[in-house]
Amino acid sequence: MAATQRYANSKGMAEHVIRTQVGIIGAGPAGLVLSQLLHRQGVDSVVIEARSRQYVQDRVRAGVLEQGTVDLMIEMGLGSRLKREGLIHYGIELRFNGRGHRIDFKDLAGGRGITVYPQNKVVEDLFDARLAAGGKIFFEAEDVSVHDFASAGTEAKPKVRFRAADGSHEVACDFIAGCDGFHGVCRPSIPEGALTVYDRTYPFGWLGILAEAPPSSDELIYAYHERGFALLSMRSLTLGRLYIQCAPDEDIDQWPDDRIWQELHTRLATADGQWKLTEGPILQKGITGMRSFVVEPMQYGKLFLAGDAAHIVPPTGAKGLNLAATDVRVLARAIAEFYSSGRRDLLETYSQICLRRVWKAQRFSWWMTSMLHLFDTDNAFDRRRQLAELDYVTSSRAAAQTLAENYVGLPMEWD
Ligand code: FAD
Ligand code: PHB
Repeated sequence: MAATQRYANSKGMAEHVIRTQVGIIGAGPAGLVLSQLLHRQGVDSVVIEARSRQYVQDRVRAGVLEQGTVDLMIEMGLGSRLKREGLIHYGIELRFNGRGHRIDFKDLAGGRGITVYPQNKVVEDLFDARLAAGGKIFFEAEDVSVHDFASAGTEAKPKVRFRAADGSHEVACDFIAGCDGFHGVCRPSIPEGALTVYDRTYPFGWLGILAEAPPSSDELIYAYHERGFALLSMRSLTLGRLYIQCAPDEDIDQWPDDRIWQELHTRLATADGQWKLTEGPILQKGITGMRSFVVEPMQYGKLFLAGDAAHIVPPTGAKGLNLAATDVRVLARAIAEFYSSGRRDLLETYSQICLRRVWKAQRFSWWMTSMLHLFDTDNAFDRRRQLAELDYVTSSRAAAQTLAENYVGLPMEWD
């Protein structure tokens, strides 16, 4: 259990000093899964989050969990609501030229599928578990900063400093986990030149809505259309989640609900006119930019980056949360091994192990994005090429299998 001492603040010292083994910055999926995994292996951690619990929990983001992520939730003791409310899908539909083509995961990916279970619930389940077990999470932390992590040797004594409602805090720890997302403070705290950035931005974004309407399909539909990409997804049997490709700097005020529905009807329509899209009140709408981003390595001294802090994928492959979960599985094992046996090699190879998987997910997400979206630099040749690729993927068993095995999640490689 983290030990807290109160100090006078006469010399600019922190008013509260806490000692723990791992200081975790960020209470998104990466930070919370890491904290829970460490707890189950007897390693103490403190989580420091810039936002309120409600804010983190209400953020509408991922919806698709790979089987490996589902298994991890179960292994962490968080399977009961997931098993009750998660929707297991054994396929997706690719829709183009007004026709749907199913990619059958059960057949093509060895019986595996994916589970539709919202990130909001994943995060809520994790908060409940951490707090019930006495886990320490600071919410609404301000001016979070990380210090003294530069060396991997015993001389480094990492610290996290921040302000909370009751004054200034310092967390003294053995390791810092930077799980603070793409805009966090950890990655920029690593000296310039120590990391190599690999980056690509896309000339479009997604306008996403959450609608109180039963999904019009049992499975997700990825639609290629001359007006741009559209995706039909869901959060439950009564809640739809739908997206349309838009300009990256699109003004959401230019998109009244009627215009969004009209665009979805057009892009998702089938040529025979048989398929119907059910509308409902729009509960939430927002625009997301699209980028591919990786830093190498994902560690510096005793600071380890995990999840969106280290890499971003465009959401077309539904991989971001799943990658965050696998990063922290690798990190939790390395840290637990260090405490139980003194082994350092797993800490040293953390980045190398994660990056193999990260780059495969990057490739898949880029490929799905490139195949399904309209690029303003493309011409009629490129559109014919995209249609030929969709035709190939949906008619060749080998090509469909490639999509299926990546979509349900590649196996974990531990070395
Ligand atoms: P985050 O969720 O960003 O969490 C980081 C946390 O750190 C946040 O709570 C933030 O408030 C906190 N923080 C930031 N700065 C600081 C600071 N200075 N101090 C303290 N705390 C800080 N992924 C999938 O796998 N499947 C999907 O279907 C999918 N769909 C998506 C759809 C959309 C529209 C979007 C935007 C994303 C989608 N993703 C999907 C991606 C997924 O949501 C992210 O990859 C995932 O949230 C990453 O988790 P994380 O914990 O690394 O980062
Ligand atoms: C979602 O439901 O939010 C979702 C599903 C699949 C994706 C991206 C997002 O590829």
